[in-house]
Amino acid sequence: MDAHALKAALEWQIELGADEAICDAPINRFELAKQAPKSKAPPPHLAPVAPVSADPIGDARAAAGAAGTLDALREALGAYPHCELRKGARSLVFSDGQPEARLMLVGEAPGRDEDIQGKPFVGRAGQLLDLMFAEIGISRHPPAPEQAFYITNVLPWRPPQNRDPTPEEIAMILPFVERHIELAQPDILVLIGNHACQALLGRRGITKLRGQWNEVKGRPALPMLHPAYLLRNAAAKREAWADMLALQARMREG
Ligand code: URA
Repeated sequence: MDAHALKAALEWQIELGADEAICDAPINRFELAKQAPKSKAPPPHLAPVAPVSADPIGDARAAAGAAGTLDALREALGAYPHCELRKGARSLVFSDGQPEARLMLVGEAPGRDEDIQGKPFVGRAGQLLDLMFAEIGISRHPPAPEQAFYITNVLPWRPPQNRDPTPEEIAMILPFVERHIELAQPDILVLIGNHACQALLGRRGITKLRGQWNEVKGRPALPMLHPAYLLRNAAAKREAWADMLALQARMREG
């Protein structure tokens, strides 16, 4: 192949979302398949999934509703066959922090760092988020449980090249997010950015929604600006700080 063909092949892979090198040398899976003894079971990530029904949302409701614990919910998500994002992601990013915390944060979707580490909000935006919450004395793993938060995302798999979640993806994963909230039973929710508001409030327009208390599943829910937005718009940190103070006051009310 000449250099132009190689460059085109590389660009094609990047467009499909294969934008990271994960081994030192390429693996020729066609050769591996030829060498493998016929009777050998395929590795888990290549194993055929159960037949897929035509009702992704109904299946999600049934699977999420049947989960009686957070561990069972994580397992149910791992077995959910309808969302194509799972095929391109390295990790199922479920949650971090303390599940018993009074405060639960819901973000958008894992990015590259989250996909690698298997935890939500661990990249640059997540580091800013941690600093913001530390300012009001709340963190993922504090010594005192009342100073903890619990954090998840609307989508558990990284969309290729961090594209926006589609309405179909949000609709099929929403029953899992709602069950996640029911099982964690937080007193207060924080919705981080537009996609969390779209999923849980059915509304967009975060610059207007932010700072206004809403209700989600019978709990007070505060929309806030996404820290990735704050990294690009430092002037908006003033509004974000006002929202952190409003949250702190609400938490002190008990
Ligand atoms: N942005 C999100 O919304 N969630 C993450 O986990 C990381 C970045």
